[in-house]
Amino acid sequence: MSLTSVLFLLACIPSLCAAISNDSRGPFPNPLSRRASKSIPSEGYYDPLSNGGSMLTVLPDTFPAGLGEPINVILSAKSDAAVLVDQQMDGGLRNYYQSLGFSSECLGQHSGSDQAANLGDGNGYKNETAVIRWDYGDPAFGTCTETIQGGNHFRYWVQNGPKADSSGAIFMALSYEKPIALGHDIIENGYNLARDWLIGNATGQSIPTANLTNSSSYSGSTSAQGYTYETSVHYVSGLLQNTSEGINHYLTVGVNGTNAVDGLVAVMEVHISAKPAKSKCVGLSLRSP
Ligand SMILES: *[C@@H]1O[C@H](CO)[C@@H](O)[C@H](O)[C@H]1NC(C)=O
Ligand SMILES: *[C@@H]1O[C@H](CO)[C@@H](O)[C@H](O)[C@H]1NC(C)=O
Ligand SMILES: *[C@@H]1O[C@H](CO)[C@@H](O)[C@H](O)[C@H]1NC(C)=O
Ligand SMILES: *[C@@H]1O[C@H](CO)[C@@H](O)[C@H](O)[C@H]1NC(C)=O
Ligand SMILES: *[C@@H]1O[C@H](CO)[C@@H](O)[C@H](O)[C@H]1NC(C)=O
Ligand SMILES: *[C@@H]1O[C@H](CO)[C@@H](O)[C@H](O)[C@H]1NC(C)=O
Ligand SMILES: *[C@@H]1O[C@H](CO)[C@@H](O)[C@H](O)[C@H]1NC(C)=O
Repeated sequence: MSLTSVLFLLACIPSLCAAISNDSRGPFPNPLSRRASKSIPSEGYYDPLSNGGSMLTVLPDTFPAGLGEPINVILSAKSDAAVLVDQQMDGGLRNYYQSLGFSSECLGQHSGSDQAANLGDGNGYKNETAVIRWDYGDPAFGTCTETIQGGNHFRYWVQNGPKADSSGAIFMALSYEKPIALGHDIIENGYNLARDWLIGNATGQSIPTANLTNSSSYSGSTSAQGYTYETSVHYVSGLLQNTSEGINHYLTVGVNGTNAVDGLVAVMEVHISAKPAKSKCVGLSLRSP
């Protein structure tokens, strides 16, 4: 290839990049995509119970017969593939969480005990992928405040084992914890409220926890780093029980004799509606012959 044609190609790349980054249908199909050989279940996830798993986590100090915490939010595998990739870049999962006001743990240090979950996908019990905390408006250091003052936080696991590979549905266990000085107990109604505050953050409205049913649904949008996410949420019953039985901290979380867990799981489906222009294209655009 002559030097002239190389320069000509370089000159063409910026417009190509711009076209890709502005395409609301998302990136061109990747022939190596993990989706090519797998199917996404119609619900967007597999019920862990149908294959020996559970929607309750296991806490190490009480394993195997102790109390667990509810997995009360599922990020559906019907979401855009880019959102299900556990990374900050390219609009991935960590960037989506940041758009909701949540970030990774304080200064990269893991605090709090590990919890294990069995999503019925053939992977058995696995510790959480990570703990994500409310960032108090500061993605860099706000989760340090959460660790000390308490607040909303969650652990999550990916359903991708060989027996029930949902193509990456993400199972999240939310709870609202008290300050560290109070031993990080959970506030009253702190599982249901934590779930609904996250859904409120994702859809920009206050969720009426006491009035939710298995036909409640909400939608709205958030953004971070130039990515805009459209989230639609519906609440489902039947995955969790409406109960206090088997639930960690049930005595203090259940309010005035009500159940600690209302039995509803919020299923979120997330699509990217806008992306930033790729910065590497800007660099190339200076290189015309
Ligand atoms: C790029 O996207 C923006 C916002 O969605 C839109 O207003 C604009 O017309 C798009 N440009 C092209 C070239 O498609
Ligand atoms: C979870 O992590 C703990 C250490 O925090 C480890 O002792 C335990 O074996 C792990 N459990 C699983 C199921 O991997
Ligand atoms: C967003 O999350 C914060 C912290 O959990 C909560 O105080 C707030 O009420 C939530 N917003 C909505 C609209 O639910
Ligand atoms: C729940 O429903 C009751 C009865 O319809 C209503 O009075 C109350 O304001 C609702 N609560 C919320 C938080 O929407
Ligand atoms: C919704 O909940 C009601 C009980 O409140 C139940 O009878 C019904 O089967 C549930 N519907 C679905 C689709 O789960
Ligand atoms: C629980 O009941 C007590 C006494 O009736 C009341 O003062 C309190 O507000 C109730 N708590 C909640 C969260 O409803
Ligand atoms: C949970 O059960 C209680 C009764 O124990 C009932 O009042 C409440 O409506 C139920 N919640 C849901 C979401 O079904």
